[in-house]
Amino acid sequence: MILQKIPLRKPQRGCLRYEDRNRTPSGEDSRIVDTQEHIPVLCKEIIEYLNPKAGDYAIDCTVGCAGHAKEILKGISPGGFLIGIDLDEEALKISEENLKGFENNFMLINDNFKNILDAVKRANLNTGVDAVLFDLGFSSMQINSADRGFSFNSEGPLDMRFDKKAKITAFDVVNKSKECEIEKIIRMFGEERFSKRIAKRIVTARQRQRISTTFQLADIIRSAVPFYKRIHPATRTFQALRIFVNSELDNLKSALNDAINLLRPGGKICVISFHSLEDRIVKHTFIHYSRKHVLNIITKKPIRPSMEEINLNPRSRSAKLRVAQKSAEEINI
Ligand SMILES: C[S@@+](CC[C@H](N)C(=O)[O-])C[C@H]1O[C@@H](n2cnc3c(N)ncnc32)[C@H](O)[C@@H]1O
Repeated sequence: MILQKIPLRKPQRGCLRYEDRNRTPSGEDSRIVDTQEHIPVLCKEIIEYLNPKAGDYAIDCTVGCAGHAKEILKGISPGGFLIGIDLDEEALKISEENLKGFENNFMLINDNFKNILDAVKRANLNTGVDAVLFDLGFSSMQINSADRGFSFNSEGPLDMRFDKKAKITAFDVVNKSKECEIEKIIRMFGEERFSKRIAKRIVTARQRQRISTTFQLADIIRSAVPFYKRIHPATRTFQALRIFVNSELDNLKSALNDAINLLRPGGKICVISFHSLEDRIVKHTFIHYSRKHVLNIITKKPIRPSMEEINLNPRSRSAKLRVAQKSAEEINI
């Protein structure tokens, strides 16, 4: 679906204080505060690597509130074009507002980035693109909206969907899956060593009463595991549920392949990930295509935010940026 223009409110500025000292309430590393408004992570580095030039074509696969997209658009204007994809309709409304002034140079598409090839067809960019960006995970706007259910520090429904039209919510997983399935999800996507204990406690608790809210689930997890020093005990389980509900890893694998295929010779792909499961996929995909001489890996090691950026935007703390460039000769993958 192509987004229509809808009037919107600007997100409020402000701060949230988290109980947990090192993580955002859903798995991402963070410090004590996080701003309501989304601050684009590693933005300076992204622009340096992508080096957008007038007339370039770009795809921001996770356009969110368009923090990165706006900077890319500044570089590719005049004459360039950017496709901004996001599953979250609310985020796209904010993007639309933030990209005022570039109206003829972008198209926002409310879809899953795994359908990147469809997006390109819709925007008539069949000649390929010069830049692709993935900034994975969720935005501050999403984590700070209690009704989205991403955070264990604010009470909300157990939802966790990026796409509010998607069928499966975290509530369904927690209340309807078998114990062994819940255990597997928490172990695989949360890398949680107490997955068995947590799954067992969830199943026992839901026999008494449905587990409907983030607080209920966080309390059950807290009662199942020993005290963690560094992170909130619910961190890994919330991360696992979010990854599962949104099929995050499968979407990423499929979209990365198509995105690399879409790059023109010399075009660049930048991926910012926030946990090791995502980063591993990016790393191995880049290595795979570099062995086939399709990509040149530009960042041998992932780029991390500076201390200055982390102090300004604690949410950036666990970010890892990997960049690769399409080989000069066109190669069919
Ligand atoms: C970290 S935010 C991006 C923020 C953005 N770079 C900015 O500067 O505002 C990640 C965004 O990716 C979106 N997202 C996550 N998985 C997606 C998918 N499979 N397809 C499309 N969008 C997705 C989320 O809804 C969220 O808005």
